[in-house]
Amino acid sequence: MSVSSLKPQGKKYKIAWLPGDGIGIEVLEAAKIVLDKLQLNAEYIHGDIGWEFWCKEGEAFPMRTIDLLGSVDAAMFGAITSKPVKAAEAELVPELKGKGMVYRSPIVRMRQLFDLYTCLRPCKAYPGNPLNFKTEIDLVVFRENTEGLYAGVEFNPVPQELKDTLLKISKPFTAFKDVPLDQYALTCKINTKKGSERIVRAAFEYAKKYGRKKVTVIHKANVVRATEGLFLEIAKEVAKDYPGIKCDDANVDAICMWLLKNPMNYEVLVATNLFGDIISDLCAQMVGGLGFGCSGNIGTKLAVFEPTHGSAPKYAGQYKVNPIATILAAKMMLTWLGETEKADKVERAVAAIIKEGKIRTYDMGGTNTTLEMAEAIAKKL
Ligand code: NAI
Ligand code: MG
Repeated sequence: MSVSSLKPQGKKYKIAWLPGDGIGIEVLEAAKIVLDKLQLNAEYIHGDIGWEFWCKEGEAFPMRTIDLLGSVDAAMFGAITSKPVKAAEAELVPELKGKGMVYRSPIVRMRQLFDLYTCLRPCKAYPGNPLNFKTEIDLVVFRENTEGLYAGVEFNPVPQELKDTLLKISKPFTAFKDVPLDQYALTCKINTKKGSERIVRAAFEYAKKYGRKKVTVIHKANVVRATEGLFLEIAKEVAKDYPGIKCDDANVDAICMWLLKNPMNYEVLVATNLFGDIISDLCAQMVGGLGFGCSGNIGTKLAVFEPTHGSAPKYAGQYKVNPIATILAAKMMLTWLGETEKADKVERAVAAIIKEGKIRTYDMGGTNTTLEMAEAIAKKL
């Protein structure tokens, strides 16, 4: 992974602006206050995405938004409300009745369509944050973003021909032999050599660029032998190209324990899709929770930055949630664009506001609003 885009400096950036719904709208408004104060030379182009468009048009990720993403340098995404309904359930929703629609997650689709194979999630404990689990946590999670258990090859019910084939070729597990087809479901975990190689290389390249000394490969190769075994094997191969960086590995269950015990022993973590998703939430909680978790979905041509949290419907419209996750996501976007000076300024401003402790949103024990927090950060730039 290149940690920055290939965009020539000084040119006006085109940035897709996808607030989504719920608190996605509020936190993106907050991030815009910070970007405007930085006077980033950019054009922000609104894109439609989410539940509302599925109801209206049968498509949560409309073609015009896909086209927009194909034409920009980077994108900021807020959050959307996802309602994983099947066609039969959609019949129960008044707006959808009779339309025979199936909801597909726009984010998963976006990652696959644009091959945003790296999900980069930094987790840093900024001094003064009352929500830090321990003080010296500064680690980065690299999660494979396009394959694994999220590849989308799933069956419920399972087709008869698939069951027949599985029974023919899969000896160890035949417990489903006598189970009716509609009484079980099947999700395929698919990991490729290419997908494993490029995410592990991205983690090592990051370690090299930022002077990190260790990359930890997270897996479950002892049990999920085919796919996780492949991932570990490839990781060990890739590690040979980086003799200056230590490479160790750990089972996903064990690492959850070790991360809680000694989070400061870890620097860069890399994992397949689902394990990376889970580990990054655990790490985000150790540095303050969802109000601080930011994320970059990075491919070779496009990168989409977002807070890791969702649309938090119970807070929607109240302007009380913490915008720091999204402001740090904007900081990641600036780094990706090569605007490192501006990115550093944002991080210093966020760190200063956290340290001072005068402005705090509800999750930090304060009463300030989303926009007050953004304005305080902008003032520090
Ligand atoms: P959520 O992340 O939206 O919120 C869970 C809880 O975390 C909130 O009720 C709130 O207490 C806290 N929280 C979230 N963001 C916060 C912030 N910025 N500051 C302070 N506290 C914050 O997760 P939930 O409730 O499970 O999902 C709500 C909807 O969001 C669902 O429809 C879900 O599918 C969707 N979702 C969307 C994502 C996305 O757009 N990338 C990611 C995760 C969930
Ligand atoms: Mg998640």
